[in-house]
Amino acid sequence: MNVQALPATKGNHNLLSYEETAANFDWSTVEKEFSWSTTGKVNMAFEAIDRHALSDKKDKVALYYSDAKRDEKYTFEQMSQMSNRAGNVLKSVGVEKGDRVFIFMPRSPELYFSVLGAIKLGAIVGPLFEAFMEGAVRDRLEDSAAKVLVTTPDLLERVPVGDLPNLETVFIIGDNVKEEGPIKDFNKLMQEASSQLEITWVDREDGLILHYTSGSTGKPKGVLHVHNAMLQHYQTARWVLDLQDDDVYWCTADPGWVTGTSYGIFGPWLCGVTNVIRGGRFSPQDWYETLQRYQVSVWYSAPTAFRMLMSAGDELVKQYDLSNIRHILSVGEPLNPEVVRWGSKVFDLRIHDTWWMTETGAQLICNYPCMDIKPGSMGRPIPGVKAAIIDDQGNELPPNRMGNLAIAKGWPSMMRTIWNNEEKYQSYFEIDGWYVSGDSAYMDEEGYFWFQGRIDDVIMTAGERVGPFEVESKLIEHPAVAEAGVIGKPDPVRGEIIKAFIALREGYEQSDELIEEIRNFVKKGLAAHAAPREIEFREKLPKTRSGKIMRRVLKAWELDLPTGDLSTMED
Ligand code: WTA
Repeated sequence: MNVQALPATKGNHNLLSYEETAANFDWSTVEKEFSWSTTGKVNMAFEAIDRHALSDKKDKVALYYSDAKRDEKYTFEQMSQMSNRAGNVLKSVGVEKGDRVFIFMPRSPELYFSVLGAIKLGAIVGPLFEAFMEGAVRDRLEDSAAKVLVTTPDLLERVPVGDLPNLETVFIIGDNVKEEGPIKDFNKLMQEASSQLEITWVDREDGLILHYTSGSTGKPKGVLHVHNAMLQHYQTARWVLDLQDDDVYWCTADPGWVTGTSYGIFGPWLCGVTNVIRGGRFSPQDWYETLQRYQVSVWYSAPTAFRMLMSAGDELVKQYDLSNIRHILSVGEPLNPEVVRWGSKVFDLRIHDTWWMTETGAQLICNYPCMDIKPGSMGRPIPGVKAAIIDDQGNELPPNRMGNLAIAKGWPSMMRTIWNNEEKYQSYFEIDGWYVSGDSAYMDEEGYFWFQGRIDDVIMTAGERVGPFEVESKLIEHPAVAEAGVIGKPDPVRGEIIKAFIALREGYEQSDELIEEIRNFVKKGLAAHAAPREIEFREKLPKTRSGKIMRRVLKAWELDLPTGDLSTMED
């Protein structure tokens, strides 16, 4: 598709010329943006919050928070004090550098205080999405050997505290918390805590955050990021988000996912920008109201959300004054050209696609305000990063050939290990010097990258990454299920939905009630977003001779495609 004449991002842009910067850029030049370049003392939370609290930005609003019940704001100075208090609360139960502190709760100011407080102690933060059910919570706390958890009374029911020997303390954020055993009242301790805290200085390569994410096989894996990632969080927040001093920025992602931390916490605050956090569920009215109320100027969201807004109709948008928005971005799934055209029409702005992964820690292939956009393309690699399409031997392919989307190893925010699984970590780098993403794509003559699909079976549903193996494992725990195979089925709004093929055990009959029961079983065991929207029963599922479900064949059935090579299939 050709470059379209689309309305541009408003204002002066931070990145003035893509070509020129890409030709000359060196990451070491970003170091001077941080206080450690002169003091030698490193800590992400200090750079994101305290540095501004000690400057003339101290009275600037750092956080606007609202949900159905709360409506609050905190300046950088107040954020500094509240995160110091949270740090002291965590310290009081012995949290030290390197300990894993997990945060399992819906968005709230306390979530942000705890994340920052833990980081100030040099602890490694593990954010958990509030929708996780017991099985998902257990896997993550067990694998990471988490020492402390911060959660709410409602979510505590899903934490198998007694089965987790490493979990020493569980802080509850709620009213009238009954302290007993490992349970402690977070808010009470916050009030008693000092707002002064001695920060634990760390090495740039020390652990910062652990995000669990799904692959096509095995349990979810803990992707470890380090403090050094701040170089890229900061620089991409400047070039890609185009953040400037007077911006009001809203990233709609939950901190349970990497977008909600890299660009919901670190990126904007490293730039000293006002950050909007809206709690509660998605509704088009609520989102437009949020944009209007805070006069949001830079807005980072996802294709599924844009498609849902699009289907809510253009009349609704017109009821709001959204004239402050000057720059819009998207991440997580392919951004359809149709959505870009809709954005141009209703916001009079183009939507900028960005590509990256939990493992990459920060944006890598993007569209920039100063660059032409080709709707449907993810854009071009950020300056300082080399991306290429390679074949399975590591040869770089010429333009317009589809292959593995790969990144030359060594960008600042690259994951540093998979927790407890160095072998898995190494498997990403098996092709000489390249990080192989698992996505297939091609690059055109002008160096724009075009997403084609996942090479493995990972499902992206409504922007959330779901591993089919995790869902299949849960399904076969249900007494009626003998075998299960799970695929992503294309869906116009959600990108993909989860579809399960199931073979029943002897003595079970298929019925609508059983479908509902199985779906609820996954919902309760794993998470609502991991439950199959469609379930189809089959006598038998296609398997390899070694007994592996052939998802590729299920997908071919579903899409009416040829099934391809079946030589490994059992008789
Ligand atoms: C997909 C989210 C198309 C891709 C930050 C990748 C995308 C996976 C895009 C990572 C995009 C992300 N266009 N696909 N702009 N951005 N993806 O780890 O398949 O939740 O590998 O990270 O999302 O998902 P994750």
